[in-house]
Amino acid sequence: MSQIKKTYLAFIGGSGLYDLPGIQNLKEEEISTPFGTPSDKIITGEIDGKPIAFLPRHGKGHRFTPSEVNYRANIYALKKLGVTHIVSVSAVGGLQEKTAPGTAVIPTQIIDKTTGVRERSFFGKGVVGHVSFADPFCPELQKYISNACEQEKVKTHFGGSLVCIEGPRFSTRAESHSFRREEAVIIGMTAMPEAILAREAEIAYATLAFVTDYDCWKEETEPVTVEAVLAVLKKNVDASKRIALSIHKNIPLETKNPIFNTAEYAIMTDKN
Ligand code: ADE
Repeated sequence: MSQIKKTYLAFIGGSGLYDLPGIQNLKEEEISTPFGTPSDKIITGEIDGKPIAFLPRHGKGHRFTPSEVNYRANIYALKKLGVTHIVSVSAVGGLQEKTAPGTAVIPTQIIDKTTGVRERSFFGKGVVGHVSFADPFCPELQKYISNACEQEKVKTHFGGSLVCIEGPRFSTRAESHSFRREEAVIIGMTAMPEAILAREAEIAYATLAFVTDYDCWKEETEPVTVEAVLAVLKKNVDASKRIALSIHKNIPLETKNPIFNTAEYAIMTDKN
């Protein structure tokens, strides 16, 4: 049975999104977890009486590579605060013509190409669980993101797969073409294991990705560089903040979600 919870929406900001405006009763929470320290202090507060939290994924000054981010500590700390929903904001490359630089993308699937160096589960050490992950993103939360993009009149693509690579290097041309053959629409470095840990923590999670480049598959376009990524991000940062605030405004004060009961069907270990 799906339980009703008071909504607590958090944003994990990626490259280019390091804060959110308009947060009232703002606090900076330093949270310790059994998995270590989160990427940064978590900003908490409220807007119009509704709680909101913000965590910059790469830490202040962008200090952690995608492989170095302590995803378990980040998700654990947000859970400890009582967060029920996470919108993960990230910069990505576009793998299809339709996901051109400047487009906001709400992917519906993930292809995980990370290499196993990232800690990717809260299970283990005596507790065995296998969560359902056929649909890695929360469809309910995606509706609020999609509506917010529409309200803010941002060119948006809904659906398709995000391929998550280990990085920190960008892809080779052969890799980029092979991801296109797999029909992925965007490429990033941080969706995994963030999405799986959110699911294990029974937090509704969805990604709002901003396309900054065409990776390196497109012959007539220069291969991606950090310079190009930063230039497009700079142009999109205001839009990403407006969309974030709009999602927060649209999400109801209370929510019911099957993801809140994930563990009920996942844990195999004897409870006694
Ligand atoms: N982030 C932004 N652009 C990217 C790309 N082309 N590949 C991986 N991550 C990215």
